[in-house]
Amino acid sequence: MVDYAISIAYIFSMEDREEIERLREEIRRHDYLYYVLDAPELSDAQYDALFDRLVRLEEAHPEWITPDSPTQRVGARPSSEFRQVRHSTPMLSLGKVTSEGEFLAFHNRVCDGLNLPRESQIEYACEPKLDGLAIEVVYENGSMVLAATRGDGVVGEDVTQNARTIKSIPLKLREAHPRVEVRGEVIFPLADFRRMNEERAASGEEPFANPRNAAAGSLRQLDPKITAARPLDAYFYALGSIELSGRAEPTTHAEELRLLSDLGLKIVRYAEPCHGPKAVARYFKRISEQRGALLFEIDGVVVKVDDIESQRRLGEISRSPRWAIAWKFPAQERVTRLTGIEWRVGRTAAVTPVALLEPVELAGATISRASLHNEDQIARLGIRIGDLVMVRRAGDVIPEVVRPMVELRTGGEREIVPPKRCPVCGAELVKDPGDVFRHCPNVSCPAVVAESLAHWASRGAMDIDGLGPKQIEQLLSEKLVSNAADLYRLEPQQLISLDRFAEKSAKNLIAAIDASRNRPLSRFLYALGIRHVGETVSRLLANRFRSLDSIRAATENELVAIDGIGPEIARSIVDFFANDENRRLLEELSRAGVAPKEAPVPKKSLPLDGLTFVITGTLSVPRDAIKKALQEAGAKVSGSVSKKTNFLVAGDSPGSKLDKARALNVEVIDESGLRKLLEKYDVGCVAISGS
Ligand code: IVH
Repeated sequence: MVDYAISIAYIFSMEDREEIERLREEIRRHDYLYYVLDAPELSDAQYDALFDRLVRLEEAHPEWITPDSPTQRVGARPSSEFRQVRHSTPMLSLGKVTSEGEFLAFHNRVCDGLNLPRESQIEYACEPKLDGLAIEVVYENGSMVLAATRGDGVVGEDVTQNARTIKSIPLKLREAHPRVEVRGEVIFPLADFRRMNEERAASGEEPFANPRNAAAGSLRQLDPKITAARPLDAYFYALGSIELSGRAEPTTHAEELRLLSDLGLKIVRYAEPCHGPKAVARYFKRISEQRGALLFEIDGVVVKVDDIESQRRLGEISRSPRWAIAWKFPAQERVTRLTGIEWRVGRTAAVTPVALLEPVELAGATISRASLHNEDQIARLGIRIGDLVMVRRAGDVIPEVVRPMVELRTGGEREIVPPKRCPVCGAELVKDPGDVFRHCPNVSCPAVVAESLAHWASRGAMDIDGLGPKQIEQLLSEKLVSNAADLYRLEPQQLISLDRFAEKSAKNLIAAIDASRNRPLSRFLYALGIRHVGETVSRLLANRFRSLDSIRAATENELVAIDGIGPEIARSIVDFFANDENRRLLEELSRAGVAPKEAPVPKKSLPLDGLTFVITGTLSVPRDAIKKALQEAGAKVSGSVSKKTNFLVAGDSPGSKLDKARALNVEVIDESGLRKLLEKYDVGCVAISGS
């Protein structure tokens, strides 16, 4: 095993050089597709993942970097179909960091560059990094004369006609200065993006990969009418060269934003000054948390030294300012190598493939395994062992393999062959027609039993503290248990004789198992691992039937009558309880003293719950009839008025209770008021009209 790992590592390192070349060619091809043909095959994140891998390999082998590597150029060639325009001052790109440590290194470079001690609380201006398309708009004497894309930063494309269709970009500024160049981002709002993609899918058009592509695709349209029909928006965050009249030039970034805003432009939202690196880190954290709730896509925050004189002193290096940095959210997509497949046998006996990966850092965690769902998925993806694959982790979900990088194959990749026999017990696997999974037919397959027990002990199920996969493995291999019922017959002495169990831990485990005997019915049902019965369905069942016996007796019809339970679930439940083996297990569990707590009968809430009435004076109906009607509707009827009284029902000649009610500010109603009240609460007035 070890030898194998070493030889693989060796071969892979020998292949690095070849891989670098292949990555470069592939990135060039995607550059062409994206920038020239306007027909990207990859999402930006996927492109970044490829680029990132190349950067990393080149970092490991700086001797192999050539000037024609895509990493050695910032931006890209503009399409020849738009008129090209040279920016009067280059539109820079930003260096990036992805952690607080890297950000601190940036901060240190800023301090060093300004000859300040590193503890200096530099004033930073922080903003979200909008994920759209950078644009420069030039105004002369207050009027728009040009709009250009960033292009490669030096030469961009003239998109004036299209930019004029974006309503949030003024054609005329609120202040007329000889010349101002403003810079910002054209974005496609998320809600519109989702709606448009749905429409495109419905009409058979290819949906946009992401809002950024949608923005770029919409702005770089040769026909401005198409651009006009798209809900583009623009936010501004920087100035190019400017010539003002009657107004001082900004001396800080905050003043630049104020100028942009005064001119009538929309400025980047959620911009904030941050005093020192700690404040920047807090800002980053906050924006990361708010990211999902924003109206537009962002991919990090931009941190700028606020003072413009300091910006000048810091200058720039290879087309990126030394005074600003993009602190990006962790990559959600990465390229890594598929080193093998593990075939796992789960508690349902289904055999599922798991991708084994060369470890990579992904969305803040190191991952070395990813879900492949099933065999069909492998075929659909067309992956092979040894492939470079794109892996993705979006939000909290389990990492998954997105696609193989087919163009980067060396020819040494191997086909993935699903096993014919159970990788755990060796039984011949069965695959039912129409099923995507192969199953292990052996009911006592150790893998199936171990997984079932682990599920039984898990948090949402019987919640047995201290009974994890390791302990289960031990209990199984010592043949102390073979099913869940056996757990409840264990004695501390049996455990103490095992490795890793001391007297205390043995006692604790037995106590934890004991404590699980009377878990609520819903947990018990979930623990049984009935197909299609998760935590939610278990709760529905427990609430409706309240006892295990009633559930066992339920018919498919009774089950589907429950909101949230369909025919497939109903059938699976009925099948489960009809199965001999399961019946035996339930019998054994009950004999071992496992008695789930039946769900309590829910207290019905009544319309007048919590209200207290007092009745006084003469009414058209006997007082007792009114009292009974009120009590049946849930109200309390008391004999004396107090602060707790909600209503005094006063008939003729009410007497002292009325005075007291008034003194205590208790609401007083007469008989017709009472009827209205009962109607309002939907308590049939019939109840008191008995006379
Ligand atoms: S400032 C010299 N601020 O990021 C600094 N850029 O990689 C120039 N971007 O091309 C950029 N949001 O498209 C700045 N709040 C923001 C930004 C931002 C997005 C983009 C912009 C630029 C790229 C730099």
